[in-house]
Amino acid sequence: MFDLVEPLWNRFGASLVVADSPVTGSDVSTRVRLEPPEGYVRMLLRAELFSALAVPIGMGLILQTSFTDAPARATPLASEVHAAVSFAEDVMPILEQHCTECHGPETVELGLNLSTYEGLMAGSDYGTVVERGNAAASLIIDMISSGDMPQDKDPMPAEQLEVLRNWINEGAENN
Ligand code: HEC
Repeated sequence: MFDLVEPLWNRFGASLVVADSPVTGSDVSTRVRLEPPEGYVRMLLRAELFSALAVPIGMGLILQTSFTDAPARATPLASEVHAAVSFAEDVMPILEQHCTECHGPETVELGLNLSTYEGLMAGSDYGTVVERGNAAASLIIDMISSGDMPQDKDPMPAEQLEVLRNWINEGAENN
């Protein structure tokens, strides 16, 4: 029995190797030598099992952490952050393409002049058409998404309407 366990003892470390040495002859050391092996083997098997499992479990935790962390960081960057919309660069060209023919310097339907920032923010004879920071409450968005404007023409492409929405939601700045 002890011979079988011997190689395992060696792996246990210095303190038990001392107990194993023939120099020690006391009752205590004998008891240490004869009694522990059963429990020790079980303990060692548990230790072996633990270390055998520790590596895959540890790897799994590392992989899980890196896999769950990566998308959590990437998602907001990809979907939520977009460049600020510029009135001059992005909004004005859309209004010129679809609206200023009837809401421009020459023909100003309903008093609504969409050829300048001031005209757009001043609104029509009935009042404002842009609510700063709130595209959903802005008449101009309502009229375009319902298809009422541009009047009697092809509807505005969804991407362009989205640009107007974003610009209003970002505060409708003269930027
Ligand atoms: C072909 C001419 C024409 C074009 C192009 C046109 N509109 Fe109009 N728009 C009108 C007329 C006419 C009215 C007033 C009668 C009405 O409300 O139907 C009007 C009314 C509006 C109103 C209502 C204002 C109020 O206070 O009731 C808004 C807002 C508006 N237009 C926005 C736009 C926008 C934005 C575009 C471009 C996407 C556009 N329009 C293109 C002719 C046009």
